[in-house]
Amino acid sequence: MTSNPIYTERLTLRPLEMSDAPALFKLDSDPLVMKYLGNQPLTVISQVYTYLENIRNQYTQNGIGRWAVIEKSTGELIGWSGIKFIEEESNGYKGFYDLGYRLRPEFWGKGYATESSQAWIIEAEKNLKINQLYASAHVDNIVSQNVLSKVGFKITGTYDFLLNGVLIPCFWMER
Ligand SMILES: CC(C)(COP(=O)(O)OP(=O)(O)OC[C@H]1O[C@@H](n2cnc3c(N)ncnc32)[C@H](O)[C@@H]1OP(=O)(O)O)[C@@H](O)C(=O)NCCC(=O)NCCS
Repeated sequence: MTSNPIYTERLTLRPLEMSDAPALFKLDSDPLVMKYLGNQPLTVISQVYTYLENIRNQYTQNGIGRWAVIEKSTGELIGWSGIKFIEEESNGYKGFYDLGYRLRPEFWGKGYATESSQAWIIEAEKNLKINQLYASAHVDNIVSQNVLSKVGFKITGTYDFLLNGVLIPCFWMER
């Protein structure tokens, strides 16, 4: 498992900690952030503790999971990004590595998702020895599709992602 922070020009990427819960609650209680994700905004911070435990278990079990994204200039946790090992079946795939990210709106449009994705691609190839990455984005989530195509992903299909009984139309992307 990689656990040393990764430094980019403007960001620090590091494993998530339980003490990150208040900043993550700010992120996940925002309806703008949830617009294309199919999740309802969180309403109580205990929901964050549950998923943080889940992510930290993934670090132990899979050697990887989503990490905190810290803006170097302010020291603020602005969201998360990283590689998750997906065990469940999705679009006919099972046991694959997914690149994802989620940032607080006040930090959008600065190239941060692209910068952190580039760092994860290097980490995947050099240290994690993952040579195939996958990603999904809602068909209307143009910004996320832009980020993924800027870092070399190609759309290879469409599928419906089932979340809480609702089908979400997504592009399937590979790199
Ligand atoms: C998706 C997300 C992480 C993007 O973060 P970001 O840091 O703003 O992304 P970047 O600045 O690196 O890149 C965004 C790109 O989309 C472009 N863009 C921004 N708004 C756009 C719009 N309305 N239409 C088309 N392109 C747009 C930007 O210009 C930029 O491309 P450029 O660098 O060539 O100019 C952020 O919007 C987010 O957290 N959304 C909520 C969660 C989410 O949807 N996650 C992805 C799930 S698949």
